[in-house]
Amino acid sequence: MNAPVNHNDLSLSASGVTVAFGGFKALTDVSLTVTPGAVHGLIGPNGAGKTTLVNVLTGFQAPTEGQVVLSGKSVGDLKPHALRRTGIARTFQAGRLFTGLDVLDNLAITGVGLGHSRRASEVEAMRLLDWMGAAHLAELPAAGLPYTDERRVGIARSLMFGPKFLLLDEPAAGMSEAEAEDLAKTISLVAEELGCGILLIEHNVGLVLSVSHHVYVLDAGQIIEEGDRDIILASKAVRDAYLGAEHTENEESS
Ligand SMILES: Nc1ncnc2c1ncn2[C@@H]1O[C@H](COP(=O)(O)OP(=O)(O)OP(=O)(O)O)[C@@H](O)[C@H]1O
Ligand SMILES: [Mg+2]
Repeated sequence: MNAPVNHNDLSLSASGVTVAFGGFKALTDVSLTVTPGAVHGLIGPNGAGKTTLVNVLTGFQAPTEGQVVLSGKSVGDLKPHALRRTGIARTFQAGRLFTGLDVLDNLAITGVGLGHSRRASEVEAMRLLDWMGAAHLAELPAAGLPYTDERRVGIARSLMFGPKFLLLDEPAAGMSEAEAEDLAKTISLVAEELGCGILLIEHNVGLVLSVSHHVYVLDAGQIIEEGDRDIILASKAVRDAYLGAEHTENEESS
């Protein structure tokens, strides 16, 4: 294992981020901070801008205005691979494993891409699979994996060589409630045991509220609420965003 990292003064922030696609603003003046060792939820209806925000934080999308700030310093226009080397990792909404490789190689190739030797990458890959209770998958072809295993492997791969921040875009999509709960436990452990700061995007709001220390709610490109579970549950703005303002006014029963 690498020497323990002092995460104390680390943080990853979006600061006043606006993203315009032509005349359409997918994000408007969004600010949010992820700190080590904690799970931060990001929820919001379809098209709210969640994936766009993750793309900005990981260098896949340049902001039109605003910036990404890592531990107090703007990251400028660093590209995804450079940001990954600074310790910002992500998963994708669709798994994106290399289907021609086995599971171990899917992880190892990330280590090699980060500049580690093949051997060190394989050792790290095996250590992580083991940590996630997925060592039995190591030699299986990635192509044939059941959906939930594919997701776990995707997360294990993103954890190669201990990123400081992990951004998870709908990791529980398509899972049963029991599988999602299992995944939620893993996500909590990544924060607690590995000290990672996590940004968790999920449509399964119950799952987000159950594991997050702090939750941000995006709607139509803007943060409309943030706070702990109780604040989110009590928020009229959040209810309106999910159910539609007219709907909640007209149909109290829902
Ligand atoms: N490259 C792009 N060009 C134009 N519009 C885009 C682009 N990427 C995203 N959008 C639009 O920006 C808005 C936000 O999209 P985004 O994918 O960030 O939403 P989301 O909250 O992740 O949605 P979902 O819950 O469906 O994953 C949507 O209206 C989408 O159509
Ligand atoms: Mg999305």
